Amino acid sequence: MNLFRKKSDLIVKLNNLRKNNFKIGLVPTMGALHKGHTSLVKRSIKENDYTIVSIFVNPTQFNDKKDLNLYPKNLTKDCNYLDSISTDIIIFAPEINNIYNKNLSVKKFNFYDLDKFMEGRYRKGHFNGVATIVSHLFNIIKPKNAYFGEKDFQQLRIIQELVSGNNIPVNVIGCQTIREKDGLALSSRNTKLSKHNRKIASKVYEIINYVRINFDSMSFLEIYTYVDKFFDNILEIELEYFTIAESKSLIPVKEKTINKQYRAFIAVKLQGVRLIDNIALN
Ligand code: PAJ
Repeated sequence: MNLFRKKSDLIVKLNNLRKNNFKIGLVPTMGALHKGHTSLVKRSIKENDYTIVSIFVNPTQFNDKKDLNLYPKNLTKDCNYLDSISTDIIIFAPEINNIYNKNLSVKKFNFYDLDKFMEGRYRKGHFNGVATIVSHLFNIIKPKNAYFGEKDFQQLRIIQELVSGNNIPVNVIGCQTIREKDGLALSSRNTKLSKHNRKIASKVYEIINYVRINFDSMSFLEIYTYVDKFFDNILEIELEYFTIAESKSLIPVKEKTINKQYRAFIAVKLQGVRLIDNIALN
């Protein structure tokens, strides 16, 4: 197993790899790995000579302490899972104090309006925390390619902006969302749901898929009214937001313009567990 717990040890290993001009792919994660994560890992293995998977539950991107404390952690299981895919994978799982100083300082970034709505609005400071850790990982690892899931589409767009706005020489590669049979997007948080609520959770995909199918024939008012009514009938689910936004700018829209791409974004709470999803509408 290629497990590194210290930045300095990883840097020595990577400097050796770089001498041979090996192409390095990075998959940043917070662990509790599932098939969504490993789809990114498998793609990186295909497209690079070496793949680094970072496992780090980044405290500065959690605006809610309860959510941070609840976040599932199991490094041994994660390492064994990655080893079962390939023993060549390099795992970087640093301790908090190897990444942050005592006061967990976070850089403030300008993402223009990309962080203004949806997750950025409901999780204050979240994307500054994400960008702080991701730019730190880019700096240590200097990958050629870095892989992010469309499951967190706003995060993906923000990382693309981080890289282009700061001239960071990394290709950011977006990968499609992996779903369960009933459509629920795979997430580390799904494991926190009871059997009953796990079934209910599929409603999140059901509604955004319904909106996708009927996007051409329904007005925005009809869509928003339908979504509100849909959740009025599901007592277990508390809808945090449902937003249709333009796919590039992530600005919410009230009417369609030709030649623009749109996505629906949703966040709900179910049994205290926060679930998010999104889907391309056209
Ligand atoms: P985490 O939630 O562990 O996700 C790691 C990566 O896996 C992200 O790019 C995420 O979009 C992707 N992913 C998660 N579920 C997926 C699914 N069902 N299908 C496809 N991809 C999926 O996102 C983070 O961690 C953190 O914010 C991080 C970028 C590591 C910074 O701390």
